[in-house]
This record gives sequence, structure tokens and C-alpha cells, in this order.
Amino acid sequence: MSRAFAATLLLAVASTSSCKRDSERSAAPPPSASAKGPRHYVIGMSQCNLGEPWRVQMNADVAQAAKKHPEFEVRFKDAQNDSLRQRAQVEELAAQGIDLLIISPKESAPLTKPVADVYAKGIPVIVLDRAVEGDAYTTFIGADNRRIGREAGKYALKLLGSGKNVVELKGLMTSTPGRDRNEGFREGIELDKHPDKKLVFEADMQWLEPNARKEMESALAANKTIDLVYAHNDPGAHGAYLAAKASGREKQTKFIGIDALPHEGVRYVREGILDATFLYPTGGAEAIELAASIFAGKKPEKKITLGTRVYTRENVERGGEAIE
Ligand code: FRU
Repeated sequence: MSRAFAATLLLAVASTSSCKRDSERSAAPPPSASAKGPRHYVIGMSQCNLGEPWRVQMNADVAQAAKKHPEFEVRFKDAQNDSLRQRAQVEELAAQGIDLLIISPKESAPLTKPVADVYAKGIPVIVLDRAVEGDAYTTFIGADNRRIGREAGKYALKLLGSGKNVVELKGLMTSTPGRDRNEGFREGIELDKHPDKKLVFEADMQWLEPNARKEMESALAANKTIDLVYAHNDPGAHGAYLAAKASGREKQTKFIGIDALPHEGVRYVREGILDATFLYPTGGAEAIELAASIFAGKKPEKKITLGTRVYTRENVERGGEAIE
């Protein structure tokens, strides 16, 4: 559990002193199981895809945390990277009579109404990692992507030294982390203050390694030197690295990614493939703990922001460094 989240939970517990117990009880959803047995809670988990290791990890984190609550049943749905399918799956889950929905939406706009419809039915909705538009949901849990982008931009500037040419491989720009990681990076690298540096190529690789590899091939073909690649996730950075390596140019370039899974981005840094990766926590465990506190009748925060860390070649063996 992140420190920020633990603090939020503590606050929530502290603010509901014993004198509030009756109102807490009445705020809890009515039991659907028999009055004799313990209350059984069905949680719908709408995952936008399971193509990337990071999303497999998110589901594993949800499942692992749910094990601590034997009264929870989690129904997982995989939308296979299709917003329309995800919308149908959300509707299907709601029709099944779930007690709470957790959703990590593929794209913000197409999933906004389906989420709002579930919320309007009185079903609590936790939006995880990628946001929807507006505020018709219970709580958003995720790291601050704009901040991560900004830190990546500052680090890129440091890594570049006298290097000039930068490539940005963006995540899906119809998803909120893509937009935020892009804006944050531009704020951090401050190209207007460094006229010698230039963004020579940018493309939307939609979070996908094969797309990133292809885009990087175009970037390499069009530019004699590429000093640094900033990719919005580690699969993207790895795809770019593979393209550079295939043309024997990987040593001239620094690579920065985001996610920092131990068996993906962090391993790439340790192996000298990436120069840095920024942790993007899945929030899966936090979502389950929040569900438990909602079922207990506690009033949830609207937004829970998870922390991040940076892993570089210098600090990777020490477990990276927290960004405060
Ligand atoms: C996985 C992923 C991660 C990224 C996150 C952003 O689908 O692309 O790599 O950090 O989604 O929502």
C-alpha cells in the first residue's frame, strides 16, 4: 500500500469516530445475502486489455488483495483493447447486479457515459489509472501522469547533455495518461529555454511495442542522429530500442520509459537497455481496500493520487528513488 493511500485510509478511519457508527451503518449498502451468512459482495472489474504485462499485473494485484476479503467475489472482464466492447461489458456487469465496479477504461470519452450510468444506479464506481470525463463516479485512483511526464522531461534534459535530437513516442492520445504524459514532458524539458534541443519526431504508438518499433524505424530513417527517446510506457521504449539496435544505432541514444514493472522496465534498466523508467503503480490493491471501506459505509475521497519512483542506472540496484 502506498504511503499516501495509507494516510488517506487512516484519515477516513479517524474521521469516523464511534459516535458516527449508526450513520455509517445506514450508509452501507443493504445486504443481498441471507441474513444468517456473512454478506457476499460482487465486484465487477472491467479491464481495457490484457495485452501488456502492466495490465496483467493490475488484475493480479486486484485478485491478490481480494483474497484478504473472502466475502468478495471479483468478476473480471477483458475488453481486448476495444472501447465498444468495454462499454458492453460494463453494461453486462451492471445488469448482473454487482455491488461495485472497478474500471480501467481504454479511452476517456467513449467510457464516460457507461460509467455515469452505472454510478446513477447507485453502484459505487472506482475509476483506475485512466480517467473518464466529468465526475460521475465515486473515486479516481491513479498516479499523477502530468507530474511523471514533467519529471521525465527534467531527467531527459539532464541525460541529453549536449545532445540535441529528441523523439517522443506517445501513448494513446484519446486516453488521459497519454495526454498528461505528453503535456508534463513538454513542461519538464522546456524546449523554449533550450533552443539547441529539438523534438525531431513524435508519434502516437497507442501504448503498443510493435507500433513503437515501427514509428522509431521512421524516426531513424528521417534523422541521422537521435539522442534521446521518451516513450510513454516501457513497452514503447523497448520497441524503440529494438528498432535502434536493428540499425546498429542503439548506443547513440538514451531511452526513457514509464511503468517500472520489476520484470519489465526495471529489468531493462538493469540490463542497460533503458536509461530510466518511472514507476506507474497499478492501484489494484488500493482499489480493493477502498471497496472494502466503501462497503463498510465510509465516505470515500474523490481522488486518490499514488506516488512514483524513478529507476536509473545509478540507483536501480538500490531500488530506485522516490519522487517526493
Ligand atoms: C498498459 C498501459 C501502461 C501504461 C498505462 C496507461 O495498457 O499502456 O503501459 O502505463 O496503460 O494507462
